[in-house]
Amino acid sequence: MIIPVKWSDEGVLMLDQRLLPTEEKWLTLKSYTEVADGIREMVVRGAPAIGVSAAYGIALGVKNFVGTNIADLVEEFDYISEVMGKTRPTAVNLFWAIERMRRTFDQAKTDGKSISDIKQTLIAEAKNIHDEDIESQRMIAEHGGKLLADNSTVLTHCNAGALATGGVWGTALGVIRGAVNQGKTIAVIADETRPYLQGARLTAWELQQDNIPVTLITDSMSGHLMKKGRVQAVVVGSDRIAANGDVANKIGTYMVAVLARQHNIPFYVAAPLSTVDLNCPTGEEIPIEERNTREVTHVQEIQLAPEGISVNNYAFDVTPNEFVDAIITEKGVARAPYTETLRRMFDE
Ligand code: MRU
Repeated sequence: MIIPVKWSDEGVLMLDQRLLPTEEKWLTLKSYTEVADGIREMVVRGAPAIGVSAAYGIALGVKNFVGTNIADLVEEFDYISEVMGKTRPTAVNLFWAIERMRRTFDQAKTDGKSISDIKQTLIAEAKNIHDEDIESQRMIAEHGGKLLADNSTVLTHCNAGALATGGVWGTALGVIRGAVNQGKTIAVIADETRPYLQGARLTAWELQQDNIPVTLITDSMSGHLMKKGRVQAVVVGSDRIAANGDVANKIGTYMVAVLARQHNIPFYVAAPLSTVDLNCPTGEEIPIEERNTREVTHVQEIQLAPEGISVNNYAFDVTPNEFVDAIITEKGVARAPYTETLRRMFDE
């Protein structure tokens, strides 16, 4: 059972995903700045895992506050939240978790709690966010598992597994685990996911641990395999879903969705409601992270491209809602028109 981030009395524990699959090393992060660096530098990654980590980071920052004045704590809380909010721009779970911690902080102040009680309240809230995330993935697994046919092969892109969430299930891999738990035989095709290779390094590792059959391909092979009839469904996660159902996810997801439509293969997105951003009317408003060009020109220390070459390194793309056959959340399965069906899920 994989849980990539944990709270402990010594600090926030993170499984260093930069080293997987060859090394399993846990880091103990003792300050909120270390947690923020961990998110920025991809020690932990994947939208729900980023949200859980940010909540723990805020709880840790407040726990380490040494002052005695509540006004100073308010200033410190604002600063910690600002640092967390600058780590990664696309995954809305980050901002969702910061906002939830802020509401809890404000309520604790209104209730007249002491600084020491506020510290305990925020630690408890971060743990709640983590527990609820795992429960959401369990429900996603249950709902989504029903969409997959027995004896089918599912293609996935990036890593939307336990590693990318609070743990245990994952979103896209949760759907696959759900189907397997329902007694179905499922095989997985994992895109390697250039340039950061989350598919090769993380999805392949996770599924191997669970003994779910997985075949690794390069990103450019998916069209060929779909044309050959080797893929019966595509399931991916998301970093932010706009109110109209446009889906931001790892770069390359859009290509996979268009190919799936061309071959009449259902394209499913699995994500908790904490990934749905009703404040973003369409995918146009979703900020797309651009990362260091070295991720494209190098694999670790090996240089692949000529010195000085111009490079783009967009970390995410947006799949228009018309290519999305269903969005699986903890509340059930939403289908078009998403502007209505997603909003309704928040009201349930
Ligand atoms: O850059 P990453 O590794 O954080 O990107 C992760 C993804 O794109 C995942 O598919 C997404 O966050 C969903 S995780 C359940």
